Amino acid sequence: MKKKIVVLTGAGISAESGIQTFRGANGLWEGHRIEDVASPEGWKRNRQLVLDFYNLRRRLLLSVEPNEGHKALVELEKKYHVVVITQNVDDLHERAGSSLVLHLHGELLKARSTLDESLIYDWREDITSEDKCELGFQLRPHIVWFGEMVPRMEDAALITEKADIFIVIGTSLQVYPAASLLYFAPSHSRKFLIDPNADELPSKVENLRTIKASATTGVPDLVRLLMSEV
Ligand code: APR
Repeated sequence: MKKKIVVLTGAGISAESGIQTFRGANGLWEGHRIEDVASPEGWKRNRQLVLDFYNLRRRLLLSVEPNEGHKALVELEKKYHVVVITQNVDDLHERAGSSLVLHLHGELLKARSTLDESLIYDWREDITSEDKCELGFQLRPHIVWFGEMVPRMEDAALITEKADIFIVIGTSLQVYPAASLLYFAPSHSRKFLIDPNADELPSKVENLRTIKASATTGVPDLVRLLMSEV
Protein backbone atom coordinates (compact mmCIF):
# COMPACT_ATOMS: atom_id res chain seq x y z
CA MET A 1 0.00 0.00 0.00
CA LYS A 2 1.23 3.49 -0.82
CA LYS A 3 2.30 5.68 2.09
CA LYS A 4 0.11 8.69 2.77
CA ILE A 5 1.50 12.18 2.36
CA VAL A 6 -0.56 15.13 3.53
CA VAL A 7 0.62 18.58 2.46
CA LEU A 8 -0.58 21.78 4.11
CA THR A 9 0.08 24.83 1.96
CA GLY A 10 -0.29 28.56 2.52
CA ALA A 11 0.22 31.75 0.58
CA GLY A 12 3.98 31.17 0.36
CA ILE A 13 3.66 28.39 -2.19
CA SER A 14 1.99 30.77 -4.62
CA ALA A 15 4.26 33.76 -3.90
CA GLU A 16 6.68 32.94 -6.70
CA SER A 17 3.77 32.66 -9.11
CA GLY A 18 3.15 36.35 -8.42
CA ILE A 19 0.43 36.25 -5.76
CA GLN A 20 1.30 38.34 -2.72
CA THR A 21 1.28 36.71 0.73
CA PHE A 22 -0.99 38.16 3.40
CA ARG A 23 1.18 39.14 6.29
CA GLY A 24 3.59 41.56 4.74
CA ALA A 25 5.64 44.11 6.60
CA ASN A 26 2.93 46.74 7.00
CA GLY A 27 0.13 44.44 8.14
CA LEU A 28 -2.03 45.52 5.23
CA TRP A 29 -3.37 43.27 2.53
CA GLU A 30 -2.99 44.95 -0.84
CA GLY A 31 -3.46 48.28 0.94
CA HIS A 32 -6.55 47.23 2.92
CA ARG A 33 -7.13 46.28 6.51
CA ILE A 34 -7.98 42.57 6.52
CA GLU A 35 -11.17 43.16 8.51
CA ASP A 36 -12.45 45.60 5.86
CA VAL A 37 -12.21 43.13 3.00
CA ALA A 38 -12.31 39.68 4.57
CA SER A 39 -14.97 39.65 7.27
CA PRO A 40 -18.78 39.52 7.42
CA GLU A 41 -18.70 42.98 9.06
CA GLY A 42 -16.68 44.38 6.17
CA TRP A 43 -19.20 42.92 3.74
CA LYS A 44 -22.08 44.57 5.62
CA ARG A 45 -20.25 47.90 5.78
CA ASN A 46 -19.11 48.14 2.19
CA ARG A 47 -20.13 45.36 -0.15
CA GLN A 48 -18.72 47.08 -3.23
CA LEU A 49 -15.25 47.37 -1.69
CA VAL A 50 -15.25 43.65 -0.94
CA LEU A 51 -16.49 42.72 -4.42
CA ASP A 52 -13.88 44.97 -6.05
CA PHE A 53 -11.13 43.53 -3.88
CA TYR A 54 -11.87 39.93 -4.81
CA ASN A 55 -12.56 40.84 -8.44
CA LEU A 56 -9.03 42.19 -8.67
CA ARG A 57 -7.59 39.11 -7.04
CA ARG A 58 -9.56 36.85 -9.40
CA ARG A 59 -8.26 38.73 -12.43
CA LEU A 60 -4.72 38.45 -11.14
CA LEU A 61 -5.15 34.71 -10.52
CA LEU A 62 -6.26 34.18 -14.11
CA SER A 63 -3.06 35.84 -15.31
CA VAL A 64 -0.55 33.73 -13.33
CA GLU A 65 0.69 30.15 -13.55
CA PRO A 66 1.60 27.35 -11.14
CA ASN A 67 5.30 27.26 -10.23
CA GLU A 68 7.87 24.50 -9.65
CA GLY A 69 6.65 24.10 -6.07
CA HIS A 70 3.08 23.26 -7.10
CA LYS A 71 4.37 21.03 -9.90
CA ALA A 72 6.79 19.04 -7.74
CA LEU A 73 3.95 17.98 -5.45
CA VAL A 74 2.21 16.31 -8.40
CA GLU A 75 5.29 14.13 -8.98
CA LEU A 76 4.84 12.60 -5.52
CA GLU A 77 1.58 10.99 -6.66
CA LYS A 78 3.56 8.46 -8.71
CA LYS A 79 4.72 6.76 -5.50
CA TYR A 80 2.55 8.08 -2.67
CA HIS A 81 -1.08 8.72 -1.86
CA VAL A 82 -1.10 12.51 -1.66
CA VAL A 83 -3.71 14.94 -0.35
CA VAL A 84 -3.07 18.67 -0.54
CA ILE A 85 -4.86 20.72 2.10
CA THR A 86 -4.52 24.34 1.13
CA GLN A 87 -5.38 27.60 2.85
CA ASN A 88 -5.08 29.27 -0.53
CA VAL A 89 -8.11 30.28 -2.53
CA ASP A 90 -6.24 30.06 -5.84
CA ASP A 91 -6.48 27.05 -8.16
CA LEU A 92 -2.76 26.66 -8.80
CA HIS A 93 -2.53 23.19 -7.23
CA GLU A 94 -5.33 21.99 -9.51
CA ARG A 95 -3.79 23.61 -12.58
CA ALA A 96 -0.42 22.01 -11.76
CA GLY A 97 -2.21 18.65 -11.77
CA SER A 98 -2.72 17.67 -8.12
CA SER A 99 -5.57 15.14 -7.90
CA LEU A 100 -6.82 15.65 -4.36
CA VAL A 101 -7.01 19.26 -3.18
CA LEU A 102 -9.04 20.35 -0.17
CA HIS A 103 -9.59 24.11 0.12
CA LEU A 104 -9.91 25.12 3.74
CA HIS A 105 -10.61 28.79 3.06
CA GLY A 106 -12.73 28.56 -0.07
CA GLU A 107 -12.07 29.19 -3.74
CA LEU A 108 -11.71 32.42 -5.64
CA LEU A 109 -13.10 30.91 -8.83
CA LYS A 110 -16.43 30.17 -7.17
CA ALA A 111 -19.29 32.42 -6.08
CA ARG A 112 -22.02 31.53 -3.66
CA SER A 113 -25.43 32.68 -2.56
CA THR A 114 -25.70 34.97 0.44
CA LEU A 115 -28.97 33.21 1.31
CA ASP A 116 -28.03 29.55 1.02
CA GLU A 117 -24.37 28.63 1.27
CA SER A 118 -24.93 25.34 -0.53
CA LEU A 119 -25.66 27.27 -3.75
CA ILE A 120 -22.15 27.51 -5.22
CA TYR A 121 -21.27 28.42 -8.81
CA ASP A 122 -18.10 28.26 -10.89
CA TRP A 123 -17.17 31.89 -11.51
CA ARG A 124 -14.35 33.34 -13.59
CA GLU A 125 -15.74 36.84 -14.19
CA ASP A 126 -16.12 39.78 -11.83
CA ILE A 127 -18.96 39.40 -9.30
CA THR A 128 -21.15 42.52 -9.50
CA SER A 129 -24.04 43.82 -7.42
CA GLU A 130 -26.29 42.56 -10.22
CA ASP A 131 -25.21 38.94 -9.83
CA LYS A 132 -27.78 36.83 -8.00
CA CYS A 133 -28.20 33.17 -7.13
CA GLU A 134 -31.06 31.18 -8.63
CA LEU A 135 -33.26 32.26 -5.71
CA GLY A 136 -32.59 35.93 -6.46
CA PHE A 137 -30.11 36.72 -3.67
CA GLN A 138 -26.79 38.52 -4.05
CA LEU A 139 -23.73 36.40 -4.82
CA ARG A 140 -20.58 36.75 -2.73
CA PRO A 141 -17.08 35.30 -3.11
CA HIS A 142 -16.88 31.65 -1.98
CA ILE A 143 -14.28 32.54 0.63
CA VAL A 144 -14.09 31.76 4.34
CA TRP A 145 -13.74 35.15 6.02
CA PHE A 146 -12.40 35.92 9.46
CA GLY A 147 -15.01 35.06 12.04
CA GLU A 148 -16.68 32.47 9.82
CA MET A 149 -16.76 28.71 10.30
CA VAL A 150 -14.23 26.58 8.43
CA PRO A 151 -16.56 23.86 7.14
CA ARG A 152 -13.82 21.61 5.72
CA MET A 153 -11.75 21.60 8.90
CA GLU A 154 -13.13 18.33 10.23
CA ASP A 155 -12.35 16.53 6.96
CA ALA A 156 -8.88 18.07 6.96
CA ALA A 157 -8.22 16.89 10.52
CA LEU A 158 -9.37 13.33 9.73
CA ILE A 159 -7.10 13.20 6.68
CA THR A 160 -4.14 14.61 8.62
CA GLU A 161 -4.53 12.05 11.39
CA LYS A 162 -3.74 9.31 8.88
CA ALA A 163 -0.59 10.88 7.46
CA ASP A 164 2.67 8.95 7.34
CA ILE A 165 4.41 12.11 6.16
CA PHE A 166 3.15 15.65 6.76
CA ILE A 167 4.61 18.55 4.80
CA VAL A 168 3.92 22.22 5.57
CA ILE A 169 4.80 24.78 2.91
CA GLY A 170 4.68 28.58 2.96
CA THR A 171 2.35 29.40 5.80
CA SER A 172 2.94 31.64 8.80
CA LEU A 173 0.78 29.23 10.87
CA GLN A 174 -0.93 32.21 12.45
CA VAL A 175 -4.47 31.48 11.40
CA TYR A 176 -6.50 28.90 13.29
CA PRO A 177 -7.92 26.34 13.04
CA ALA A 178 -5.80 25.65 9.92
CA ALA A 179 -2.52 25.99 11.82
CA SER A 180 -3.60 23.36 14.34
CA LEU A 181 -3.35 20.67 11.64
CA LEU A 182 0.35 20.43 12.43
CA TYR A 183 -0.69 19.00 15.79
CA PHE A 184 -3.19 16.56 14.28
CA ALA A 185 -0.47 14.69 12.39
CA PRO A 186 0.46 11.51 14.27
CA SER A 187 3.48 11.96 16.55
CA HIS A 188 5.34 9.14 14.77
CA SER A 189 4.83 10.69 11.31
CA ARG A 190 7.74 12.48 9.66
CA LYS A 191 7.12 16.17 9.29
CA PHE A 192 8.75 18.79 7.11
CA LEU A 193 8.26 22.53 7.10
CA ILE A 194 9.48 24.53 4.10
CA ASP A 195 9.52 28.31 4.45
CA PRO A 196 12.16 31.01 3.95
CA ASN A 197 11.14 32.16 7.40
CA ALA A 198 11.34 28.68 8.92
CA ASP A 199 13.47 29.83 11.89
CA GLU A 200 10.64 31.88 13.29
CA LEU A 201 7.88 29.31 12.93
CA PRO A 202 6.77 26.94 15.69
CA SER A 203 9.03 23.93 15.79
CA LYS A 204 8.25 22.21 19.08
CA VAL A 205 6.68 19.32 17.24
CA GLU A 206 8.00 15.77 17.25
CA ASN A 207 9.87 14.57 14.16
CA LEU A 208 9.75 17.97 12.49
CA ARG A 209 12.51 18.99 10.11
CA THR A 210 12.51 22.65 9.12
CA ILE A 211 13.85 23.60 5.72
CA LYS A 212 14.67 27.26 5.25
CA ALA A 213 13.97 27.68 1.55
CA SER A 214 11.52 29.14 -0.90
CA ALA A 215 8.88 26.88 -2.41
CA THR A 216 10.39 26.65 -5.89
CA THR A 217 13.67 25.28 -4.57
CA GLY A 218 12.71 23.65 -1.26
CA VAL A 219 9.76 21.64 -2.57
CA PRO A 220 11.49 20.04 -5.60
CA ASP A 221 14.47 19.14 -3.35
CA LEU A 222 12.27 17.46 -0.77
CA VAL A 223 10.27 15.68 -3.47
CA ARG A 224 13.48 14.27 -4.96
CA LEU A 225 14.47 12.96 -1.54
CA LEU A 226 11.07 11.34 -0.88
CA MET A 227 10.93 9.81 -4.37
CA SER A 228 14.34 8.23 -3.84
CA GLU A 229 13.15 6.47 -0.69
CA VAL A 230 10.49 4.22 -2.25
N1 APR B 1 8.18 30.13 -0.66
C1 APR B 1 7.69 29.59 0.48
N2 APR B 1 7.19 30.34 1.50
C2 APR B 1 7.18 31.67 1.35
C3 APR B 1 7.65 32.31 0.19
C4 APR B 1 8.18 31.48 -0.85
N3 APR B 1 8.67 32.00 -1.98
N4 APR B 1 7.52 33.66 0.35
C5 APR B 1 6.96 33.85 1.56
N5 APR B 1 6.75 32.65 2.18
C6 APR B 1 6.17 32.37 3.49
C7 APR B 1 6.33 33.48 4.52
O1 APR B 1 7.59 33.38 5.17
C8 APR B 1 5.18 33.17 5.48
O2 APR B 1 5.57 32.27 6.51
O3 APR B 1 4.79 32.21 3.34
C9 APR B 1 4.15 32.50 4.57
C10 APR B 1 2.94 33.34 4.25
O4 APR B 1 2.23 33.61 5.43
P1 APR B 1 0.86 34.40 5.39
O5 APR B 1 0.99 35.59 4.51
O6 APR B 1 0.44 34.62 6.79
O7 APR B 1 -0.14 33.38 4.63
P2 APR B 1 -0.93 32.14 5.20
O8 APR B 1 -0.21 31.49 6.33
O9 APR B 1 -1.28 31.30 4.04
O10 APR B 1 -2.24 32.83 5.74
C11 APR B 1 -3.25 32.04 6.29
O11 APR B 1 -4.71 33.92 6.53
O12 APR B 1 -5.52 35.89 5.59
C12 APR B 1 -5.78 34.58 5.86
O13 APR B 1 -7.36 33.18 4.89
C13 APR B 1 -6.11 33.79 4.65
O14 APR B 1 -5.49 31.56 4.03
C14 APR B 1 -5.01 32.77 4.59
C15 APR B 1 -4.61 32.62 6.05
